[in-house]
Amino acid sequence: MGKDVIVACDFASAEQTYAFLDKFTGKKPFVKIGMELFYAEGPAIVRELKARGHKIFLDLKLHDIPNTVKKSMAVLSRLDVDITNLHAAGTKRMMEAAVEGLTRPDGTRPLLIAVTQLTSTDQESMENDLLIKEPIDQVVMHYAKNAKDAGLDGVVCSPLEAGKVHDTCGKAFLTITPGVRFADGDIGDQKRVMTPAEAKKIGSDYIVVGRPITAADDPVAAYERCLNEFVD
Ligand code: C5P
Repeated sequence: MGKDVIVACDFASAEQTYAFLDKFTGKKPFVKIGMELFYAEGPAIVRELKARGHKIFLDLKLHDIPNTVKKSMAVLSRLDVDITNLHAAGTKRMMEAAVEGLTRPDGTRPLLIAVTQLTSTDQESMENDLLIKEPIDQVVMHYAKNAKDAGLDGVVCSPLEAGKVHDTCGKAFLTITPGVRFADGDIGDQKRVMTPAEAKKIGSDYIVVGRPITAADDPVAAYERCLNEFVD
């Protein structure tokens, strides 16, 4: 899979999701299904969007004991998603178990991506709440290396970290970056943002874009604009 724009379908129901995607006549954007929509609608929403021809990033961020993650990943693998993810904080052993669980009998599997430190965690909360004293960018790179060693395909990271992740883990290690905004757009609650064009320049492999597309007056035009800036 090459560079692509993944649309974050942060909707509360299948109905709202279909109403949104029905606007894209003839186009099948790569979509991200997160916890809110998955917990509301269950695996049926994944099957339906797959049947409609969308590629799917199932963003459930698993983090549990290796055996539980392995068995859960086997279930997600049978759903035939294209990308799924977990928390690197679950340790290398958990990530290796996840790869095993995700791998189908024929040897194929969805791409598996790690969350390093959430962008909602800052240096202060990491030190005080998690008792991790190193600088956060070192922690992020260390977790990225762990993910690579465990056989994962990449990390979710800020577009600002994508270049350094590639320097540390190699160009083939994927970076999926949220926090994307148009130069003339609202940044909302995101703090460190980049335009699709800047994300392309810095080497992001996939950008995850939510509100700049879902809340646009013309979502299809906003999606096309992302594609033009990021892919073409
Ligand atoms: O609407 P917006 O473009 O901010 O949506 C970004 C999407 O990426 C949301 O689904 C959000 O949960 C997700 N995300 C993020 N930052 C992370 C990880 C995921 O914004 N570090």
